[in-house]
Amino acid sequence: MRLSEDFLSQLKYRSDLSEIAANYMQLKRRGRNLVGLCPFHSEKTPSFNIYTENGSFYCFGCGTGGDVITFVMKMENLDYMEAVRFLAQRAGMSMPEDNFDDSSSRLRTRIFEANREAARFFHQKLNEECGKAALDYLHRRALSDRTIRHFGLGYSPNSRFALTNHLRQKGFTDAELIAANLVYQARSGKGVVDRFYDRVMFPIIDLRGNVIAFGGRILSDMKPKYLNTSDTLVFSKSNNLFSLNNAKNAGSKFLILCEGYMDVIALNQAGFTQAVATLGTALTEEQALLMKRYCEEVVICYDADEAGQKATARAIDILRRAGMPVRILTVPDGKDPDEFIRNHGDKGPAAFKNILENSGNDVDYRLFKLQSSYDLNIPQSKMSYLNEAVKIISSLDNAMERDIYCSKLSDITAVSKDSIKEQVDKQLRQKYRSRRRSEFSEITKKISARDDRINPQHQSNLRAATAEEKLIAYLLKNPDKLSFISSRLKTEDFVTDFNRKLYEYFFERIKSDLDPTLNISKDFTSDEQSQIYRIIHQDEALSSTTDAASEYIRTIKEERYKPTADDIKNASLDEMGGFLKNLRDKKQ
Ligand code: CTP
Ligand code: MN
Repeated sequence: MRLSEDFLSQLKYRSDLSEIAANYMQLKRRGRNLVGLCPFHSEKTPSFNIYTENGSFYCFGCGTGGDVITFVMKMENLDYMEAVRFLAQRAGMSMPEDNFDDSSSRLRTRIFEANREAARFFHQKLNEECGKAALDYLHRRALSDRTIRHFGLGYSPNSRFALTNHLRQKGFTDAELIAANLVYQARSGKGVVDRFYDRVMFPIIDLRGNVIAFGGRILSDMKPKYLNTSDTLVFSKSNNLFSLNNAKNAGSKFLILCEGYMDVIALNQAGFTQAVATLGTALTEEQALLMKRYCEEVVICYDADEAGQKATARAIDILRRAGMPVRILTVPDGKDPDEFIRNHGDKGPAAFKNILENSGNDVDYRLFKLQSSYDLNIPQSKMSYLNEAVKIISSLDNAMERDIYCSKLSDITAVSKDSIKEQVDKQLRQKYRSRRRSEFSEITKKISARDDRINPQHQSNLRAATAEEKLIAYLLKNPDKLSFISSRLKTEDFVTDFNRKLYEYFFERIKSDLDPTLNISKDFTSDEQSQIYRIIHQDEALSSTTDAASEYIRTIKEERYKPTADDIKNASLDEMGGFLKNLRDKKQ
């Protein structure tokens, strides 16, 4: 669907980015702008900026930029049209003629519909004869019918065509079902077959109630135990959490992070609806940032086995880096939370509440783990223990917290608190320096990698590209200078293609009296937008005099028309004279 300029401009006018962003993050005023911790990468000092003058954002930490529509797309995991609709609804505006033909939007909608229909089908089968074994299985695992219904659990029949046939009948095309990852092309090349068969089905539901994927558990001890939907247009396993749709309404300050679907479901049945789980992968940074939006603290409740403990150590790091306080709940007797609750029968909920209340924070957990592998009666071993413990303490960002653990460590080891503190401070300084260094080089690498992708000529034409970018930023700040620029510089004069394309784009819009930045989020990819907003916000103090603009223009032309090594090698004497004269003219 084509959205009119008027509609979009109304929409943006009524969708204040600062106000909308404030629903997802803490913002502080800095001059005309607002700053906060970037929701798109983990950081401890704010580099995320909102520019109130033009309703855009740019993060100097990860180089992500965009407007209010981009922001909503990223935060709510929506495509462009969905984000526009989201904002329109919020602003009380009705969408113009809702018969949109945007094909990727349409396919997304079809995937949601196919998934919903599949979930209904699987759930239905659980109550039919063919699903009896699966239903028995769930009952044996102590799930009530109410819980089964609440999570929409189901059964995929033991046939390779049950779902395919059903969904075809409902009017879905094979292409749509493949895009939903519900079926796949059979290797024999003849048609499609069901991806899930003879499994207990766990629908994965996003925050707006859409079924976005499935996990399927086998009923026996065969492998693989779980089969999950691969990433699709509507699902990314590293960006979602199982049961976050329930957990976010739990009214709890903390979330309980488990390993498995069954753990989350058992916890829900026991009344702990704030439980979530990752989706068949280790915890990701995106998931940590997602949780941060819905809670103040995370209680990690992984399996008690060695793999679970390793995963716990990793999750602590990721959550800490995202600035999230963490507690660790260790399930006694080498079990997972589901087994623990089941084994306690009626007393399950109370027993779990008890271990939940006694769960310590991650530092206690790590110091305790550490202590068990050293003998503090042997001086050498005690030294090693102290060194490791100091590392853990210095990983804390909060000075008060560090102080508390210095005291604890001093009590445990009978070493003076002052000398422990001294070591911690030393570590801290070192860590700070190396963190700054590595963060900086990572950012530079990331942004220049994107530069290369978006504007492959950037690196090899640095001087020209920089001048082009400054000129574009100048033009956007001073659209009234369009004819000043265009009378001195033709689009052919641009050295890099991407910047030329940008210039032409803005040129046309300004010439037609349109807001030059209004449609950036529609007309450019997310990476391109980030690049554009880097250009726009490169330097707040960018000079706005026409002298500066003339200088950029001169540089661009100079770079554009300077002879290359090949030119010189192949030039006749006359041509050489021409080059030299040119150079001399420029010098004057
Ligand atoms: N998982 C997966 N693929 C596998 C095994 C596990 O995606 N082949 C994921 C699933 O999300 C599973 C989680 O890892 O829920 C934890 O795995 P595991 O502890 O083995 O399973 P449980 O959840 O405990 O399942 P059950 O109690 O049914 O054995
Ligand atoms: Mn289990």
